[in-house]
Amino acid sequence: MSHAQSSILIIQPLMPQLDEKLSQHFDCHRLYDYQDPAQFLQQHGEEIRGIVTRGDVGVETALLEQLPACKAIAVFGVGTDRIDLGYTKAQGIQVSITSDILTDDVADLAMTLTLGFTRNLVAYHQFARSGAWENTGVTLSSKASGKRMGIAGLGAIGKAIARRAEAFGMEVAYTARSAKDVPYKRCENIEQLAAFSDFLVLALPGSPENLQLVDAKVLAALGQEGVLINIARGTVVNESDLIHALQQRTIKGAALDVFSHEPMIHPALRELDNVLLTPHIASATHETREAMSNNVFENMLGFFSSGKMLTAI
Ligand code: DGY
Repeated sequence: MSHAQSSILIIQPLMPQLDEKLSQHFDCHRLYDYQDPAQFLQQHGEEIRGIVTRGDVGVETALLEQLPACKAIAVFGVGTDRIDLGYTKAQGIQVSITSDILTDDVADLAMTLTLGFTRNLVAYHQFARSGAWENTGVTLSSKASGKRMGIAGLGAIGKAIARRAEAFGMEVAYTARSAKDVPYKRCENIEQLAAFSDFLVLALPGSPENLQLVDAKVLAALGQEGVLINIARGTVVNESDLIHALQQRTIKGAALDVFSHEPMIHPALRELDNVLLTPHIASATHETREAMSNNVFENMLGFFSSGKMLTAI
């Protein structure tokens, strides 16, 4: 197949190594580079056969409608909440994700946020670094081991978090659409799970049924000693309810890697002292991002050489 027959559209900037590898094998068009994307799509939309995008970016259906020959979308990530899978299925468009590759990193971050929040890591770091220790005694933090962790969503990532929590002597409970063959208690709904939890960890997809699942009622059930940990999607939480609960201290705090309007973080969240914030970096390690890049590349190669993506869902 000639370069020109393998036109792919890259929706958002990728890691340079991946971009370079894709450029060597395919005719790459970068949507973000065009001053007038609409004009590009009008002139060249029909040539595009594959798309590369990120999990948190996805592809709009209105864009897909302008790419009639596009039959493959490789997602750099595992989230498909920004792709209309009903549409892709109906159109015979394959969608691949970087399944399993980022599970450990995301679970590691869930525990990092849990421990970092409850052991006041950032405040202690600033305290030690500033020299304040020379004049002031240290304050106390709260214990993590032995506490209760509720995990909303027990897919591969939820299970990996549960295994880590077990190693910290935590009692684990979960919610999931179906019962899993695991030794943890299953709660009927997220409100019950919140009532059980010292740490309520969100590990569910950002699908429509999970939209703003964590609202004022759930936060009230989590209670004054409860901490919300979100490594899933910002959309799973009603952010204004969360901000209100944090401001009123009706929950103890929140450790968040994801937000409603990334990369913007609500100013109120940025000001609170009972939050720990990270900029959606759960899978952002050198090792994992390299493996994710390879996965995306191999999926595209598979599609263009045999018509089959390797890790299509
Ligand atoms: C994912 O895998 O979906 C991550 O959130 C990055 O987009």
